[in-house]
Amino acid sequence: MPTCIKNIGLLLNPKADGSWDELCNAVLLFDAEIIRYGDESDILADLEEGTEIIDAGGCLVTPGLVDSHTHPAFAEPRAAEFEMRNQGKNYQEIAASGGGIRSSVRTLRAISEDELVRRMLPRLDRFLEFGITTIEAKSGYGLSLDDELKQLRAIDRCNKQRPLDLVPTLLAAHEVPDEYRDNRRKYLDIVTEEIIPAAADQKLAQFCDVFCEEGVFSLEESRQVLEAGLKHGLIPKIHADQLSSTGGAELAAEVGAASADHIDYITDEGIQKMIDAGVVFTLLPGAVIFLGLTRYPPARRILDRGGSISIATDFNPGSSATQNLQLMMTLAGVFCGMTVRETLWSSTRGGAMALKMDDRIGSLDTGSAADIVIWNCDDERLIPYYFGMNQVKTVFKNGSAITL
Ligand code: NIG
Ligand code: FE
Repeated sequence: MPTCIKNIGLLLNPKADGSWDELCNAVLLFDAEIIRYGDESDILADLEEGTEIIDAGGCLVTPGLVDSHTHPAFAEPRAAEFEMRNQGKNYQEIAASGGGIRSSVRTLRAISEDELVRRMLPRLDRFLEFGITTIEAKSGYGLSLDDELKQLRAIDRCNKQRPLDLVPTLLAAHEVPDEYRDNRRKYLDIVTEEIIPAAADQKLAQFCDVFCEEGVFSLEESRQVLEAGLKHGLIPKIHADQLSSTGGAELAAEVGAASADHIDYITDEGIQKMIDAGVVFTLLPGAVIFLGLTRYPPARRILDRGGSISIATDFNPGSSATQNLQLMMTLAGVFCGMTVRETLWSSTRGGAMALKMDDRIGSLDTGSAADIVIWNCDDERLIPYYFGMNQVKTVFKNGSAITL
């Protein structure tokens, strides 16, 4: 039986070209998928008998938010590093001294798959509370065949146990693990010849990601990883140009990545190549602020040339310990000069594009999943304006209201 949300003060539907379809005093009709929206007079008159009617009280309605870059499969927070950074040590220094990603690898390896699932489930509910109905979820804290697959299986189990959708990404090339620090070539062979084929064969990942950065994986190594992924049907994604310009954006264009993420140090050439290749620019402003850095990605240059942007939380225990995508909209407005409409588009349709799922999620187009947020306000500007707060009133996932 369909559901109908009536008395919508403003309905905002992001379109593929970056524009909006907007309607005041609207009604939205859906079952598991969006059926249609329109004026009250159009829709309320011929509702099927038994249709459930929900009153939005004049509030704003948008698609559910899509968080296209997260690392939720970790064992423990790294609060000590947060304090160390605030006392003057930087992210790279902490990593070089054995902390950072490698410390998350040690704690992840020490717990079972069941325990990992148990720790992840409450995190999934928090995404929904913030109006996020789909996340991309990366591995990358296992860094061995068994432990990467353990993480991906945990992501799969979480996906099945909660309404939130998780889209899995293999990030075995997140760091070189402790046991291969003296033989990184060997670890790369394990990634390309064992972990990627196994994850793909077992259908545990859709994307293959790599941390392309000075001191982590070089451009050439990153290419090998992404090409191995492609050979096994995994779509490339890349952590690119986060702390320095390494050519990661250009590589994303060459291999036809779905997105290049971070890109705080992207070059003009990188921007153009990504636009020409149709790669989405994923901004992660939470990682900039949380690492105490000041260089944000050049969103205006990207938008003015016609690039498509996704904004994501980068939720992870090291560089961005937040699940609040609304707050990322605030940061992208304040530090990247984006308009509120641009940040909202980038957190819905843009996020879906970064996952190559914009035919299914990220909009209120007919036939899309009925992933919907009713907000506590009638003006979308209030979402990032009340920063760090949560403006969500009700979330629907595949047409069902979520109670958390
Ligand atoms: O996206 N940059 C690399 N990976 C993560 C950080 C992961 C971690 O520190 O645990 C990021 O910022
Ligand atoms: Fe990341």
